[in-house]
Amino acid sequence: MEHLLQVEHVVRKFGGLTAVDDVSLYLNEHELVALIGPNGAGKTTLFNLLTGMVPATSGVIDLRTNKQKYDLTHKNAMQIADLGLSRTFQNIRLFKNLSVMENVLTAMTSKYKEGFMTAVLRLPSFYRTEQEMKSEAHQLLEIFNLSAEEQTLAKNLPYGIQRRLEIVRALATHPQILFLDEPAAGMNPEETADLTDLIKYIQEQFKITVLLIEHDMSLVMNLAQRIYVLDQGKVLASGEPAQIKANPQVIKAYLGEGAD
Ligand SMILES: Nc1ncnc2c1ncn2[C@@H]1O[C@H](COP(=O)(O)OP(=O)(O)O)[C@@H](O)[C@H]1O
Ligand SMILES: [Mg+2]
Repeated sequence: MEHLLQVEHVVRKFGGLTAVDDVSLYLNEHELVALIGPNGAGKTTLFNLLTGMVPATSGVIDLRTNKQKYDLTHKNAMQIADLGLSRTFQNIRLFKNLSVMENVLTAMTSKYKEGFMTAVLRLPSFYRTEQEMKSEAHQLLEIFNLSAEEQTLAKNLPYGIQRRLEIVRALATHPQILFLDEPAAGMNPEETADLTDLIKYIQEQFKITVLLIEHDMSLVMNLAQRIYVLDQGKVLASGEPAQIKANPQVIKAYLGEGAD
């Protein structure tokens, strides 16, 4: 079967350290997949490889879209973003001194990708005016329950809300694949539950594929259709949530006692 994204035998070394060690995985269109594993396992490095922020030492990353195949291992971060791959960061990256609205507007491209959000927002096939960009930004912020904060400076937002704004910024680029690096980090259980619903909602409404790194197992087990477990740079296991929860190797390396 042809997958939307296919990672084959990807390796990334930093000096003598192999952060990503012969990883193979795939994402199908419209899937919601989780990447879990202990700190230092190589999860963020894998996101850096997938989004072109760090080149692979070896291996191949293929994207199949619009009936074409693109070898992402030979593309830079900007080219990969143009192909519709977008991410959030484990360490939040916002323009701290810009408002919430400005943060979203600066993330928007002038180009409109056919199919994305047209069903939901009924927008024309490109932005003709700044007003149209603002209109989409308003609507995205409303979905994320951030309307009341549009004029607030990003630095004045509570941490959990900054994380939500990061996701809005990533969505504003009209991705077909969204990579979320620990989106629930620093959130309380109620915020995490809201975020879980929100991720499900955007994946369905915007018909995007999501790969998420997360330590919060309630979020992972509630959301993910499939899970990859990374340990010391290698894929330790992959499968459906129930299989992963019951896998003795995964329990030993990561989940530990009482993971349920
Ligand atoms: N730019 C870098 N230079 C050197 N080592 C790095 C770099 N990025 C990540 N590493 C190392 O790679 C390993 C995996 O890190 P990371 O991908 O951040 O893990 P995770 O996100 O699973 O916690 C760690 O040992 C980390 O120190
Ligand atoms: Mg990380």
